[in-house]
Amino acid sequence: MDKVLRFSHRLLEEVLTNADISVDMTCGAGNDTLFLAKISKKVYAFDIQEEAIKLTKEKTKDYNNIEYILDSHVRANSYLNKEKIKGVIFNLGYLPNGDKSLTTKALDTVLAIKNILPLLEKGGIVVICLYPGHSEGKKESEEVIKMVETLNQKEFEVLKYEYINQIHEPPFLIAIEKKI
Ligand SMILES: C[S@@+](CC[C@H](N)C(=O)[O-])C[C@H]1O[C@@H](n2cnc3c(N)ncnc32)[C@H](O)[C@@H]1O
Repeated sequence: MDKVLRFSHRLLEEVLTNADISVDMTCGAGNDTLFLAKISKKVYAFDIQEEAIKLTKEKTKDYNNIEYILDSHVRANSYLNKEKIKGVIFNLGYLPNGDKSLTTKALDTVLAIKNILPLLEKGGIVVICLYPGHSEGKKESEEVIKMVETLNQKEFEVLKYEYINQIHEPPFLIAIEKKI
C-alpha cells in the first residue's frame, strides 16, 4: 500500500501533463517541487523560510520551469496571474530538522485552500498531507476537515485516505477534485 505522501503523488501524476501548471504550497526541502517540475509545464513553489527556498533551489537546479516564492501560501493568488491550475500540493507541518515553531498554521492553511480552489481548472486536484501527531498539526487537521466537509459536492469531490488501525495519530491525506 502507498504511504500517504506517495499516494498524494500518484493522484497528481494521474492528472498533470507537461502542458499544466502546478503549485507546491510548502516547498520545504524541495522534494515535492522536484516531483512536480518533472511532470508539469510550470511549478510555483512557496515557503515562508529562506532556508526552504534555498534547499528547494538546490534540489531542483536542473529544472528551469519553477518560480520560487518566499511568501506565505495565503497570498498565493497574487502571484498566480489568474492562471488556471491543474495540481496543488500542501505537505503541511514543519521542515524536518528545522525550526518546529515555523510550522503551518490551521487558519492560514484553511484560508490558503479556500483561496486556491477558484483557480483550479476542471479535473484539477488539491492534495493535502496532514500530520496530526503534533499539537498544531492536530488543530490544523481538525480545521481542514471541518472546512472541506462543507464544499459543495456538485462542484468538488473530496477524499480522505487514512490508516484506521494505528494507535497514535498517523498522517492522512485529503484530496479535492474539481468536477465542473
Ligand atoms: C513538511 S515541510 C514541506 C515539505 C516539502 N514539501 C518537501 O518536499 O520537502 C512544511 C513547510 O511549510 C512551510 N510553511 C509554514 N507555513 C507556511 C506558509 N504560511 N506558507 C508557505 N509555507 C509555509 C515551512 O517553512 C516548511 O518548510
